[in-house]
Amino acid sequence: MLLRDKFCLITGASKGIGKAISEIFAKEGAIIIATGRDLESLNLMVSDLPVYSAPHLVFKMDVTKEEDVLRVFNELSQNKIFIHCIVNNAGIMEDATLQMVKTDLIHKIYNTNVLGTILPSQNAIKHFLRNRCGSIINLSSIIGTKGNLGQSIYGSSKSAIIGFTKSLSKELAPLNIRVNAIAPGFIDTDMIKGMDQKFYEKNLKAIGMRRLGKPEDVAKVALFLASDLSEYVTGQIIGVDGGMII
Ligand SMILES: NC(=O)c1ccc[n+]([C@@H]2O[C@H](COP(=O)([O-])OP(=O)(O)OC[C@H]3O[C@@H](n4cnc5c(N)ncnc54)[C@H](OP(=O)(O)O)[C@@H]3O)[C@@H](O)[C@H]2O)c1
Repeated sequence: MLLRDKFCLITGASKGIGKAISEIFAKEGAIIIATGRDLESLNLMVSDLPVYSAPHLVFKMDVTKEEDVLRVFNELSQNKIFIHCIVNNAGIMEDATLQMVKTDLIHKIYNTNVLGTILPSQNAIKHFLRNRCGSIINLSSIIGTKGNLGQSIYGSSKSAIIGFTKSLSKELAPLNIRVNAIAPGFIDTDMIKGMDQKFYEKNLKAIGMRRLGKPEDVAKVALFLASDLSEYVTGQIIGVDGGMII
């Protein structure tokens, strides 16, 4: 088993990619610390996971609320639980041209996607130091690497994740803490459900492999980055996009 007895904290674990990552990590023996805003769906998700050693844990944690993040990490350390891996998966996507976007929406997207990645990572470092190793996995996007029409705010928030990943990987490499990011393309989750039909079809046509990505496609790469299979890999941004051209 690739993650036997490893404590792995996943943000936004209730559905979509976060749920798929929780499932594949649990199958590989990890003890999942599932966090998110909706306790009911988190508990439901966790109740279906296989348990090999200690039970999985669930915490209410809105990544935009520093008090939530501090409370969860303090509670874990007080209980002598020190995580080996964090997946900063929680994120939101809302499209708007820069001419039309309201300041509130800019704050909301940046608070969730950027601060919501930085704050949990900062708190995870103390845990990794206790374990003398650690893996931080951030969710960026193909929009963050290539850009897209009408997505300057979402896209730049995901580009920030790339800059954060690259700089932090240099800071933490001497401490045996690895920092990598995944840049998914067009993945079949609730995030793309409300998308304009024309935009949806255009994106689908742009995929070389002619199918939407599955949350599991992303989860398998997260598993590689969380496990020792990637023990000498840090500062990388791995595209999971089926050969998408945008
Ligand atoms: N789907 C794609 O095509 C795609 C492509 C590129 C990148 N990504 C990235 O992949 C990640 C996961 O996306 P997804 O497709 O799985 O989306 P999703 O199905 O909409 O799930 C998003 C998850 O993030 C959680 N979340 C949102 N805001 C949060 C907050 N403030 N605090 C804690 N949790 C919060 C949601 O929880 P609630 O239940 O509380 O809302 C949900 O569990 C995101 O970072 C996204 O940007 C997705």
